[in-house]
Amino acid sequence: MIVAVDGPTASGKGTIARALAERYRLPHLDTGLLYRAVGRQVLLDGGDPDDPADALAATRFPDTLLADPHLRSEETGGLASRVSIHPVVREALFERQRAFATQPGGAVLDGRDIGTVIAPEAEVKLFVTASVQARAERRWKEMRDRGVEVSLEEIAANLRRRDERDTQRKDAPLRAAPDARVIDTSALDRDEAVAAAIEAVESALRRR
Ligand code: DC
Repeated sequence: MIVAVDGPTASGKGTIARALAERYRLPHLDTGLLYRAVGRQVLLDGGDPDDPADALAATRFPDTLLADPHLRSEETGGLASRVSIHPVVREALFERQRAFATQPGGAVLDGRDIGTVIAPEAEVKLFVTASVQARAERRWKEMRDRGVEVSLEEIAANLRRRDERDTQRKDAPLRAAPDARVIDTSALDRDEAVAAAIEAVESALRRR
């Protein structure tokens, strides 16, 4: 069983993907992390994230970079969104994601284009979304708990910029697959969001 979980930043897709992976004992890949590693590597190389050749060179980042705490930062998220525009970067990361998705026994992947490009044959496709306000508040609380001081307005502006870039890019833009189940988490807490996702998986299993 392949489970594809797509959606914008801070929608709750990562939480849902991790919970499903645990419940169904499936391996999980956070594909955003790969783009974040490319963004971070460009920075370390002193390259230009908007230059396709520099961004492509950065796709050869060492695997150890995936454990770098810097990958979680807002700054790296922004760089990831910029390098992810280049088709050569998406192509370079394709095989790794595809191999993970098609491993025997199945997998859970979360990202932007899992149900549309990486694994269009996925048995379960979820599109997890939420209002900018709800996502900004979540991100703000998360950062405050980590001791990072940043205003809610700044976070909301950042999210809008990222949504704009991720949905407007030509190659594999963020959008729900026609056969995806949309889960709007704006008014849901963690457990309610996970329960809605489990219900979607169970209904796919019943259809078998
Ligand atoms: O999910 P995230 O915030 O870690 O993703 C960071 C950026 O990476 C996101 O703004 C766009 C890009 N990305 C992508 O283009 N395709 C994916 N499957 C995952 C992430």
